[in-house]
Amino acid sequence: MAVRLDGRVAIVTGAGSGIGAAAAIAAAGAGARLVLADIGPCEDTAQAIADLGGEAITVKTDVSRTEEVRSLVEQTVEAYGRLDCAFNNAGVEGKAEFEIHEADEEAWDRALEINLKGMWLSMKHQVPAMIEQGGGSIVNGASVAAMVGFDKNASYVASKHAVMGLTKTAALEYADRNVRVNAVCPGVVRTPFIDRFTQNSPEAEARYTEIIPMGRMADPAEVARAVVWLMAAESSYVTGHGLVLDGGLTCR
Ligand SMILES: NC(=O)c1ccc[n+]([C@@H]2O[C@H](COP(=O)([O-])OP(=O)(O)OC[C@H]3O[C@@H](n4cnc5c(N)ncnc54)[C@H](O)[C@@H]3O)[C@@H](O)[C@H]2O)c1
Repeated sequence: MAVRLDGRVAIVTGAGSGIGAAAAIAAAGAGARLVLADIGPCEDTAQAIADLGGEAITVKTDVSRTEEVRSLVEQTVEAYGRLDCAFNNAGVEGKAEFEIHEADEEAWDRALEINLKGMWLSMKHQVPAMIEQGGGSIVNGASVAAMVGFDKNASYVASKHAVMGLTKTAALEYADRNVRVNAVCPGVVRTPFIDRFTQNSPEAEARYTEIIPMGRMADPAEVARAVVWLMAAESSYVTGHGLVLDGGLTCR
């Protein structure tokens, strides 16, 4: 049986690119009405949803800014009358070149502001709308960097470990009000995020794929399917979970 989100309204942050775009398109394909939130453009995602016959609005949002996140949720409820699901996915990769003693404070602050505070702010404003209508399902964008360390990118790793702590705490706090909170923890996914590291060089790509037991990066659609499942009733007893999608990367 296909996983369906008919009648549901879903916010996806970072919906303009990569995993967020794929998840928004997959959720629309499953029947949800979408709110596409991104600091950058979302036209391509909106067009792909329209091509499927789906419905989406776009709200330009910087997830690290309180007023913008508050307004995102307000505009969602204004447009569709409800909020059932959210994929809090907006994130930045950090500067992966320096050890802790060499790294600059600005890069640390930026990673934490967007990857961690942005996620906290998103839940802070989404949860009341969900409780008001009797429940909902939130999926946070974590990473295998929430499970293990990666050298020379402490701000990113720290932010993603914290996202898991935030996810488990929110799951505990809202379990009795029918709001489930989970996370996805992807390994290496072929998106502009990874292209910024590899610069599309075959040698640099090989350095990533050779550490993955399945020998390849994930396609964003493979993460998107997990997000839709966590949003949907099919995962009704799952909360506080970090679903690892890494081709075996963290099995070693
Ligand atoms: N690609 C990977 O290998 C990988 C692996 C594990 C986890 N992740 C996580 O998945 C998420 C999405 O990554 P991606 O690979 O799709 O990256 P991406 O760069 O393709 O997309 C990220 C999107 O987030 C948006 N964004 C950035 N800062 C924002 C802000 N302050 N407010 C709103 N939107 C903002 C960008 O404009 C962009 O559209 C990130 O949280 C990332 O940490 C990615």
